[in-house]
Amino acid sequence: MGWSLFKPRVQRAPSVRLQDGTVFNVLAGETVLDAALRAGLPAPHNCRVGACTTCRCTLVGGTARSLVDRCYVLTQEDIRSGTHLACQMRPTSDIEVHWRMGGPRLEAHTATIVARRRLTARVWRMSLLIETRFAALPGQHVEIMVGCDGYPPVVRPFSVVHASTGSTYTRLDIDVARRDNGAVSAWLTRDDAVGSALQIAGPFGTCCAEDRGGPLLTIGAGSGIGAAAGVLSRSHATRPRRQTMLLAYGTRTADLYGLEELALGAQQAGARHRSLAWARHGPFDTPMVSQGRAPDGLLEALIEHGTVRDGQVLLYGPGGFIDTCMGALTAAGIPPHRIRCDRYQPPRAGASPVPAGHAIGG
Ligand code: FES
Repeated sequence: MGWSLFKPRVQRAPSVRLQDGTVFNVLAGETVLDAALRAGLPAPHNCRVGACTTCRCTLVGGTARSLVDRCYVLTQEDIRSGTHLACQMRPTSDIEVHWRMGGPRLEAHTATIVARRRLTARVWRMSLLIETRFAALPGQHVEIMVGCDGYPPVVRPFSVVHASTGSTYTRLDIDVARRDNGAVSAWLTRDDAVGSALQIAGPFGTCCAEDRGGPLLTIGAGSGIGAAAGVLSRSHATRPRRQTMLLAYGTRTADLYGLEELALGAQQAGARHRSLAWARHGPFDTPMVSQGRAPDGLLEALIEHGTVRDGQVLLYGPGGFIDTCMGALTAAGIPPHRIRCDRYQPPRAGASPVPAGHAIGG
């Protein structure tokens, strides 16, 4: 028996060939988008978490797997014709892809931080004023760019919680979960943040309420509770007859926020609304909060809410939470086209070129 049988198999990095003949390799752990950017290509992208579809491309040869279920952001027809999201695409062989590089440059606007409010131990609500019309809806996301001398700008996505637009200005609220070593979140939420300027681009994504009938269910965890509640708050103001429900999940009861405010707004608007919340650790001294974790209570909520047949479900939170809820929603028979999600991903280790705590100029 020859030694060659016992040699470790050398795994070659699969190649990607574009329609213009450009070829690059995808290293272990990379997505096609990661590899294209590493190769210096002007690959179109925004959210990098499979939500905005800016990186869509078409697989025309070879095989690839998707890290997320594409049916939540692409149509069945798109999927049948080979459309993938490059930021969520891993080749399982050498592949050929049609993917238009370049594309329109993002237009960035200057925004000023006008208010800062602490909501939980980790989450702050930041209000931004943009001196132009900026047509964002709650549930969409914006990209905030900050930079400091000697370092490339750092960009992070944040969900829109509230948006109000006048003829010459827009005020946006975003909820920021502070990471102690996070270049952007630590800068945004620092004590003297009010009055600072930053760059903002967007809005992106489609994880927002459709303007049609049927019950609306939103589900949020962590700082995603703000977006989930913000979508419903807008629904109460604009379509008070629409039945709504919020499911909120936190690690501790103190991590849940915005429930009373939402209930009060619904009551004032005369909307049929219910909020339910779960936390792994108490205290459990309010009737709205039960002990548990996602997806506790989801099935009962769907039945009570009537979402199973004709409603819309929107999810906001970390990837593991979204996957767990998606599994429960699918098992409950909710058709994928009625579900949209915004998957929050922490910045990858080493992704920020700005040292933690470094003063970032606005
Ligand atoms: S960059 Fe890939 S979906 Fe947004």
